[in-house]
Amino acid sequence: MINVSCQTILNCTRNVTIRCANNFTCTSLKLMRFYSAIRTNTQTPKKVTITTLQNLYTNNEPITVLTAHDYPSGLFVEKTGIEICLVGDSLGMVALGRKSVNQTTIEEMLHHCRAVSRGAKNPFLVGDMPFGSYETSSKDALRNAIRYIKEGNMEAIKLEGGSEMARTIHQITSIGIPVLGHIGLTPQRQSSLGGFRVQGKTAKQAIKLLYDAKALQRAGCFAIVLEAIPGPVATYITEQLQIPTIGIGAGSGTSGQVLVQQDMLGIYDRFVPKFCKQYAKLDQLIIEAIEAYREEVKSRAFPAEEHSYPINDDELKTFLDIMKKEKE
Ligand code: KIV
Repeated sequence: MINVSCQTILNCTRNVTIRCANNFTCTSLKLMRFYSAIRTNTQTPKKVTITTLQNLYTNNEPITVLTAHDYPSGLFVEKTGIEICLVGDSLGMVALGRKSVNQTTIEEMLHHCRAVSRGAKNPFLVGDMPFGSYETSSKDALRNAIRYIKEGNMEAIKLEGGSEMARTIHQITSIGIPVLGHIGLTPQRQSSLGGFRVQGKTAKQAIKLLYDAKALQRAGCFAIVLEAIPGPVATYITEQLQIPTIGIGAGSGTSGQVLVQQDMLGIYDRFVPKFCKQYAKLDQLIIEAIEAYREEVKSRAFPAEEHSYPINDDELKTFLDIMKKEKE
C-alpha cells in the first residue's frame, strides 16, 4: 500500500480506487498520475551538475537550494530532489550554537562538508568558505578552495563579497572550481553592516549591488546568492544578468531560492528571520518524543519485549546455576 496524504486523496476525482495508509479509499485517475510521478522521481535520481543548473535557468525553472550540515540533513536534501546542497557557514550558529558565523573555521567546515557529502549524492554540492579563509590573498583563497574539493568532497565553493572579491573569484574559477557568489546581507560582515539588516534599500546601495553582481558574473561565478534585498531590486539585478540568482529574503523574482534547513524546519531556537517560511515546527515534535522516552524509561515501559534480546532457557538456567554455585 502506498502512503499518501489525505489532502491528496481529497483533491482527487474519479476512475481508480486507491487505499491510503489511514484506510480511506479514493477513486482517481489523477492519483494514478501522482503515483507514477513519484515512481519516476525515485527510480531515476540524476546527478545534478553545472549543466543541469544552466538548463533549469534557461528553461526559467526555479532552482532549489537548501543547506545541510551533517549526514542526515544531507540525506534529506538528497531524498527531496533539491538541486543544490549548500554546506553553509551558518553551521557556526544553527548547528554549533554560536552567536555569529565568524568563528566558524575551515577545519569545521571541511569536517561537515564530508559528512554532508555522504548523504547528499545527487545534489550539486557547494561548500561555504568561512570568514578569514579567502580574504587575506588570492593565493590563500585558491589553496583553501582546493581543500574544499580534495578534502571536503565538494563540487563548488561559495564566498561572500562584491567587486572587491572579483579578482580572487576569477583565479578560483579559472582553475576549474565553480564559485557561487553572495552579496546583499553578507553575515560574515554583519559587524560592519550593523547587524543582520536588509541591504539595497537606497538607490545608491541598489546601484552598488548591481555593479557587484555584474563584477561577480564577469569573474566567472556560476550563480549569485542575493540575501535580504528588496524584491524589486533583486528582480532587476536578476534581469540584468546572464547567470542565475539565488534569493534568500530577496522576493520571488530571482532564479532560485535558498533557505537554511534548521530555520525552515523549526529546529533553531534563537530567532526566525522575517524572510524564512517555517514549513514545520519540528522542535515541538522532537521535544515530545524525547519526553515520551524519558517517561517510559522512568516507568519501565521501555524497553519492551520487542526491544530486548532473548536467551535460550537452558543457557540461562546454566548461567544462573553457575553463578549461584560461585556465590556459595
Ligand atoms: O551560511 C549559509 O547558510 C548561507 C545561506 C544562508 C545562503 O550563506
